[in-house]
Amino acid sequence: QQYDFGMIGLGVMGRNLLLNMADHGFAVIGFDLDAQKGVSLESSATKGTSVKGVTALIDLVNNLKAPKKIMMLVPAGKPVDDVIESLLPLISKGDIIIDGGNSHYTDTLRRVNYLHPKGIHFMGMGVSGGEQGARNGPSIMPGGDAEAYQHVKPLLEAIAAKVNNEPCTAYMGKDAAGHYVKMVHNGIEYAIMQLISEVYDILKRGAGLSNSELHEVFKQWNDGELQSFLVEITRDIFLQKDDLTGNDLLDVILDKAGSKGTGKWTSQDAMDLPVAIPTIDMSVSLRTVSAYKDERVLAASLYKPVVKIMKGNKEAIIKQLHDALYFATIICYAQGLAMLHKASYELKMDIPLKDVVKAWRGGCIIRSSLLEVFYNAYNKKGNKLPNILLDKSIAGIIKKKDRNMRAAVKIASQNKLSCACLMSALSYFDAYTTERMPTNLIQAQRDYFGAHTYQRTDKEGTFHTVWGSNE
Ligand code: 6PG
Repeated sequence: QQYDFGMIGLGVMGRNLLLNMADHGFAVIGFDLDAQKGVSLESSATKGTSVKGVTALIDLVNNLKAPKKIMMLVPAGKPVDDVIESLLPLISKGDIIIDGGNSHYTDTLRRVNYLHPKGIHFMGMGVSGGEQGARNGPSIMPGGDAEAYQHVKPLLEAIAAKVNNEPCTAYMGKDAAGHYVKMVHNGIEYAIMQLISEVYDILKRGAGLSNSELHEVFKQWNDGELQSFLVEITRDIFLQKDDLTGNDLLDVILDKAGSKGTGKWTSQDAMDLPVAIPTIDMSVSLRTVSAYKDERVLAASLYKPVVKIMKGNKEAIIKQLHDALYFATIICYAQGLAMLHKASYELKMDIPLKDVVKAWRGGCIIRSSLLEVFYNAYNKKGNKLPNILLDKSIAGIIKKKDRNMRAAVKIASQNKLSCACLMSALSYFDAYTTERMPTNLIQAQRDYFGAHTYQRTDKEGTFHTVWGSNE
């Protein structure tokens, strides 16, 4: 019994996490039925570290120190249940099983409740940052039993990315909170990616920028207040050449995006809570529209949209889009964090929002310099802030970008360029910040056709009117 941590599934993520742990002084062991994966794990280990690959589950379990800490990185769904069943006869009370994949939080909750009476701790843990993140410092979102968390805390803090010397990991709350926070992270990820793609489209097809000009724009943006992982990789994507033709690779990539479900889950769960996250919803829908390529080709031949290269000062358009992207990105985070705020008490998970943004500051796909701004806001108000748009410092930023945000949406729609996520961010903002929505009319209509009743602004009580008598 010599190893500190075990991993089931030695795909690239599992392998890289183990190598990261080993580099931080932990003795690690990994299991995979494919012997080659164990061999490659051992051969990629840093000299002098303690790393072992095995092909029998019993060899992994028997070689772990108590309480045994076993993480799995296997596809979400049935494979997770299968691993749990195969582990159960081999482990004892007090041992900890961690699911580091993108499982739906309701599955995680079911597994927590199944294993709790058996004395086994089950933790759902979000891991973000892709292959490189896993190897060099991911953002880690663990949730579940607070006592079990104490056993893995030192290890997670050691391997996580660091910002200002603070680890990008923290306890995310009870039960399935880890997977819930990761799900919302992914919803925000979808929305910011869609926003960036819209801005790219307006700059490329609308303003006529070449890929190398786009590279320069995104480079400048990433050096300023828009600094983020997604802007940074976009900057580099514009320079990538195709091995086959030597031309710019981006131009020959088919405009159809897949998805593995986490964005959709975020939208579905937001509807259930309910909480409004229209920019995330729109980004999920736009991936679906992208998949309908054949229909889009037919529709394009029918409507023949002609995108004209915009006249006017290019520098001014670039600045408008910069501010629009900044504005809309804040709205994406605002929607995701508002969802976590609501879920925290509705689903009784006690999610500490300050720690969530702290863990997202580095290592993850949605890391950006904005997270530091949000961290400061939550530092002041903690979980009492239902929406970051209610914070004064954030209001100050938003107000400065307002004019250019509106200008960007205007030029996009005038030039027949879809900017559904930008628009939804702006419309959400306008609805959220108005004292009086036109919902009085909806209430009148509901009462008219269905006697659904309404409340008044000038009197207490519930009212119904026999409508149409004044025609
Ligand atoms: C991460 C990512 C990752 C996620 C995909 C979403 O944080 O490293 O969020 O975990 O699964 O990026 O994939 P799809 O776009 O295929 O749904």
